[in-house]
Amino acid sequence: FKIPAIDNEPMRTYASGSAERRALQAAITQMKQELPFEVPCIVNGQPVKTGKIAKQPLPADHAKHLCTYHEADEATITRAIEGALAAKEHWETMPWNDRAAIFLKAADLLSGKYRYKMLAATMLGQGKNAWQAEIDAAAELTDFFRFGVKFVEDLYSQQPSKNAAGSWNRTEYRPLEGFVLAVSPFNFTAIGGNLAGAPAMVGNVIVWKPSPSAIYSNYLIYQILKEAGLPDGVIQFVPGPAPQIVSQVLTSPDFAALHFTGSTFVFKKLWRDISNNLDTYKSYPRIVGETGGKNFHLIHSSAEVRNAVLQSVRSAFEYSGQKCSALSRLYVSASVWKNGFKEQLLEEVAKIKVGNPEDVETFVGPVINETAFEKITGYIKLAKENGSEILIGGESDGSKGYFVKPTVVLTKDPQSATMVEEIFGPVLTVYVFEDADYDKTCDIIDATSSYALTGSIFSSDRRALIRATNRLRHAAGNIYYNEKCTGAVVGQQPFGGARKSGTNDKAGSVQLFYRFVSARSIKENF
Ligand code: ALA
Repeated sequence: FKIPAIDNEPMRTYASGSAERRALQAAITQMKQELPFEVPCIVNGQPVKTGKIAKQPLPADHAKHLCTYHEADEATITRAIEGALAAKEHWETMPWNDRAAIFLKAADLLSGKYRYKMLAATMLGQGKNAWQAEIDAAAELTDFFRFGVKFVEDLYSQQPSKNAAGSWNRTEYRPLEGFVLAVSPFNFTAIGGNLAGAPAMVGNVIVWKPSPSAIYSNYLIYQILKEAGLPDGVIQFVPGPAPQIVSQVLTSPDFAALHFTGSTFVFKKLWRDISNNLDTYKSYPRIVGETGGKNFHLIHSSAEVRNAVLQSVRSAFEYSGQKCSALSRLYVSASVWKNGFKEQLLEEVAKIKVGNPEDVETFVGPVINETAFEKITGYIKLAKENGSEILIGGESDGSKGYFVKPTVVLTKDPQSATMVEEIFGPVLTVYVFEDADYDKTCDIIDATSSYALTGSIFSSDRRALIRATNRLRHAAGNIYYNEKCTGAVVGQQPFGGARKSGTNDKAGSVQLFYRFVSARSIKENF
């Protein structure tokens, strides 16, 4: 069999007055009338209501809740692991075409029947505007499922290149022995789907702990996969407090892999916990994680100013700077800074509409929760105290929603806190360098890149692009030329970084899938 031809999901624009805009608006209105929803754990395909209730607030209006949810307790986690292991044989022996069909059907449901509902859940629950929700819950998630199927086909087709006369060598890509733990973040609905979905595609069973700030959209993904035919028990949906759930899961002898996106701090903790439990496990667990970034744009003296400004504004402030790929530190050559860049940057930032993401005009919505709000505003305060200049922004208001104005900080110190520490909010720090110091600035970027996720170089001189790319060899897993450092597309730019940004296993590519299979070579003589 051949899988159907696939392409990236076309994106809708939601222009004012369009039918798609009206349909989205209707989905949002309906969701607001019906909230708060009640979300159970799902074990073996059945809802489990533990009675330990927590809430997912709306970041734009935190007195309201999108859903209440039942936190998984110890007994639920035990049943989830046992149930996943019981579902394993049926799932891994299911013909590949049948497994593939489930994900292809889920992709069609996401792109059609449930598109607006998924967008509404992502907008209300995670504070994205329509366009950002479209990029995420409609396009990227659909792409993860469709391209995932293609990647698995590519993986399975990797076979030994030679057979001696009278023999046949072949490689089987079997799922791991045991189950996979997926721990997913709030900032992309699509990442939740991919963390649970990718290992499942190659026949693994999954215990999935979603982010407390993305419960409802992630629950809908589970429901869509079930509607598409996912057998019970293959993905166990167990929301709740990470420390209890994860530490219990990590003591299981059948724990086989961690698929994680979240903070460096938590990832390191889980890695240590796994090391401490090594003697318990049947195999060496696979550890796959993507853990944030401190991403840069480097603007050479030959850069086209207008493009560099617009790309910088988008990548720093879209989704309030809460993409792991978001621009956070901007290195601008002095001549460009003086000849229009500064003026245009501040002009564009001043135009940004901050507000409720349900409004089409809103560019910057709220940040996700109070902890994020406190952290981000704390960095702005710190920038003022350590002698940096706030060029624009700096204000915040957390009374109704968690709003922080887009903020541009100018620093003379490339080692200052806002220049090197991950903030995960709408704060951009600028460092201006003398044109002649371009190479030296590359070295500064490299030396201060404890994270290494994304970076962009802006120049109309190819030699400058290449020089920086070579000098910044390990400062980013994704490099862009003359384009913003966010927005990797599944199947086009494999995504991930090394250093403190993660294991660089490249989501959106075949590479990721190698981590979730255990290959077996078979030789047969005739
Ligand atoms: N993959 C997402 C991006 O590149 C995070 O922006």
